[in-house]
This record gives sequence, C-alpha cells and structure tokens, in this order.
Amino acid sequence: MFEAIILAGLVLLNYSQALPTSPTVQQIQASRSDQGHLIDRRAEDSSIPLERDESAGIFTANMVIEGILLPMHVDTGSSQLWGAHESCQACRDAHMIVLDTVLPEECERKDIQYAAGTVTGCLANTSVSLGSYYVEDLRILLATDISEEIAMHGHLYSGTLGLADDKLTIGNTSTFGSSLFTQGQIPSPKIGFYLPGRNNPVDEGKMAFGNSIERFTTNIEPITLPRARPDDGVYVINVTKVSVGETTVASNQQAVLDTGSLGIGIPPSMSDNILSTIYGKITEEDGGKKVNGSSPLGENNLTSLSFTFDGKTFNVGYEELISTSQEDGQCWALMDTYKGNEADETWILGEAFLHTVYHVINIEDGTVDLHNA
Ligand SMILES: *[C@@H]1O[C@H](CO)[C@@H](O)[C@H](O)[C@H]1NC(C)=O
Ligand SMILES: *[C@@H]1O[C@H](CO)[C@@H](O)[C@H](O)[C@H]1NC(C)=O
Ligand SMILES: *[C@@H]1O[C@H](CO)[C@@H](O)[C@H](O)[C@H]1NC(C)=O
Ligand SMILES: *[C@@H]1O[C@H](CO)[C@@H](O)[C@H](O)[C@H]1NC(C)=O
Ligand SMILES: *[C@@H]1O[C@H](CO)[C@@H](O)[C@H](O)[C@H]1NC(C)=O
Repeated sequence: MFEAIILAGLVLLNYSQALPTSPTVQQIQASRSDQGHLIDRRAEDSSIPLERDESAGIFTANMVIEGILLPMHVDTGSSQLWGAHESCQACRDAHMIVLDTVLPEECERKDIQYAAGTVTGCLANTSVSLGSYYVEDLRILLATDISEEIAMHGHLYSGTLGLADDKLTIGNTSTFGSSLFTQGQIPSPKIGFYLPGRNNPVDEGKMAFGNSIERFTTNIEPITLPRARPDDGVYVINVTKVSVGETTVASNQQAVLDTGSLGIGIPPSMSDNILSTIYGKITEEDGGKKVNGSSPLGENNLTSLSFTFDGKTFNVGYEELISTSQEDGQCWALMDTYKGNEADETWILGEAFLHTVYHVINIEDGTVDLHNA
C-alpha cells in the first residue's frame, strides 16, 4: 500500500497528456553553492519568485538540495519533498537535474502516488534551502525512478516541494514548511501565493513565508476558511455554491485548493452538465476536450463561472478555463471530471481558479485565507 495519499499534482491527466511538450530545456545548470551564508540570512523576510511555464501552467521554485540547484514543482496538494537522483535513468532521460547524494545503504523503496504518475525512491536526510530559508537534516525522497507522466515534465522540474500536512509525508516526518516553523525561521505557519495567469504576463508569481506575506493588490479583508475535513492533510474548504452565469449549478460542496493542479476538477456526478453549460460543444480528442475559444455564454466572458465561500464570491473568467488557441483554432478545456477517487465528491481548484485570487495556507491547521487578486 502506498503510504502517502496524494490528491493532486496535475489532476487533469488527460489534458496534460494531450499537451504538446515543449522541447526547450530549462536554462538552469546544476551548480554548487556555499550554504554557510544562507543560514545567517534566514531571519530576513523574503518572497520567493515562482517561474511559470506558459504551456504546461506549472509553477516552480528553485531550491538548493545538497548543494545542487533544482527547479521544484510547487504543490500544495501533496507533502513529500522529492528530488531526482543520479541513479534515476528516467529522470536523466527527461532532462531533469539530478542529485548526487550517496544513497543510504539500507534503501527501502518508497512510492509517492500522484493523481498523475508515480515517483519511487529512498528516503535520506539532506540539507535543503529555498531563498534565504534553510533546513539541515530534512528527510526527502531521492527519486530512483519516475513514471512517464512525471517524466513528461522533466524539462520543467526535477522534483516537488510538497506543502500540505506532515501527515501526508512518507513516514509522517516534517515538511520543509513545517520545519521552518518548528525551528522558528518563520514566525507564523503561513505561506501565501500569488499565481498570475497567462492573461497577466507582466507580474511574476510569488510565494511568501510567515510574516513576509504581502497583500498583493487589495485592501479588502480576506475570508478565512477552516479546513472542512479535519482529518485530511490537504487544503479542503466548504463551497457554499457554484454558479455558471446566473444559474447555481451546485451547492454545499467541498473543494481542495491545489497549486499542483492545472485546471478545475469537477465531481463525476455533476460533471457533464456543467461542462456543456460552460463550453457548449465539446470534442473529445487525444484524451482531452477541445472547445471554442469564445464562451458560448456570449459577451460575458468575465463572469462565466463563480464560486461562493462563506458569503464571498470569486469569479473565474472564461479565459482561465481554456488553453491558448491550438493550431485547429480550438482550445483545450481546463475543466474536466476529477477522476482521482470515485467516492470522493470534491472539486479540485487548481491554477485556473488560483490565478483569480491571492491565497494563504496555514500549514499547521489547514486554514485558508482567500483575497481578491
Ligand atoms: C534524519 O532526520 C530526522 C529528522 O528529520 C532524524 O530524526 C533522524 O535521526 C535523522 N537520521 C539520520 C540517519 O541522521
Ligand atoms: C504523525 O506524527 C505526529 C507527531 O509527530 C503524531 O501526533 C501523529 O499521530 C502521527 N500520525 C501518524 C498517522 O502516524
Ligand atoms: C462544512 O460544511 C459541512 C456541511 O455543510 C458542515 O457540517 C461543516 O461544519 C462545515 N465546515 C466548516 C469548517 O465550515
Ligand atoms: C465559436 O464561437 C464563435 C462566437 O460565438 C462562433 O461564431 C463560432 O461559430 C464558434 N465555433 C464553433 C466551432 O462552434
Ligand atoms: C472571450 O475570450 C476569448 C478568449 O480569451 C476572446 O478571444 C474573446 O474575444 C472574448 N470575448 C469577449 C466578448 O471579450
């Protein structure tokens, strides 16, 4: 049995598979750096820039693990930190940057099962830093094998920074975020995200820890939403209602916020209706869904889909719900049925939703603050 239950990390498997992968290898070279100075600077507040790949919609942060700089997928839908290891041929073939840490003699193989793909490896204690934050002796998974779905994005990232609860790590150890908090490097257990979409090419993505969380664009008070399922280790919140235009399509729902998912996942029981209301005519292709680049709801692209939480409504424009226009003039739909676990009637609110808000997660109690972006 897999020890880590991972909801997310690219839930929209079919869509991702249909995406043409970009041949360009990210311009990051493996480099050594002296970590001594990082320890001294750790108390400074700093936000972490996030790189976004336009076609795959993946946000990454550069982390230094055992002296090697790796682009890491930033994922609030999972917890285990892993990095590609030099013994992983599939990682090398996928152009990942690899760690040369000596594998522990007693390597007990462990798996991380994502909604799309599997990572296998051994646990080892390493030193890890991100910006000015530094953790020594963090238990991470050195990946010795990855599945095809993960390899597909190897030119974008070489590991994952999981930011959900400690209890979803393999062996219930500390995450990078909770280590920072326990060690007093961050005064509050909070991480804020600003994740602009491709419709906002000017701003860069940012992640901020503890008190360095900035309010990016608004002075309206956020809403604070407690974790709806206390036993879960991910950021699951109650949704009062979901509307398409003026019509309420669902009420009293639950949704998982997940930076590691690209689009919006709809519970299987209600998916077809909602998809056809939003997109009109849908053509199945290569396991994804092709749709029109303009909303069939007409002129009102801006308010096609909305989510209400605790009395406050957030609108997701049609342009967030489609990919860029493809060669045939059609776009890929960024909403699809969530096929992760059939018994699990939750919505997955990935980047398509997160582009429209500024959100802050509390890594200790799972509370989420949502601000208008
Ligand atoms: C690895 O780190 C954990 C804490 O994260 C610690 O409990 C354990 O003793 C360390 N193991 C070794 C071999 O250093
Ligand atoms: C995980 O660890 C915490 C504290 O170290 C403990 O309270 C909790 O019961 C553990 N959970 C599991 C599932 O082992
Ligand atoms: C979420 O909704 C359920 C059912 O409507 C309710 O019982 C629960 O108290 C709510 N949880 C939170 C944290 O608001
Ligand atoms: C896409 O939408 C436009 C504008 O509403 C419409 O003119 C066009 O016929 C639609 N294309 C398809 C293939 O449905
Ligand atoms: C709706 O969005 C599409 C895709 O971004 C765009 O091509 C179209 O012009 C928009 N329609 C209106 C009326 O804004």
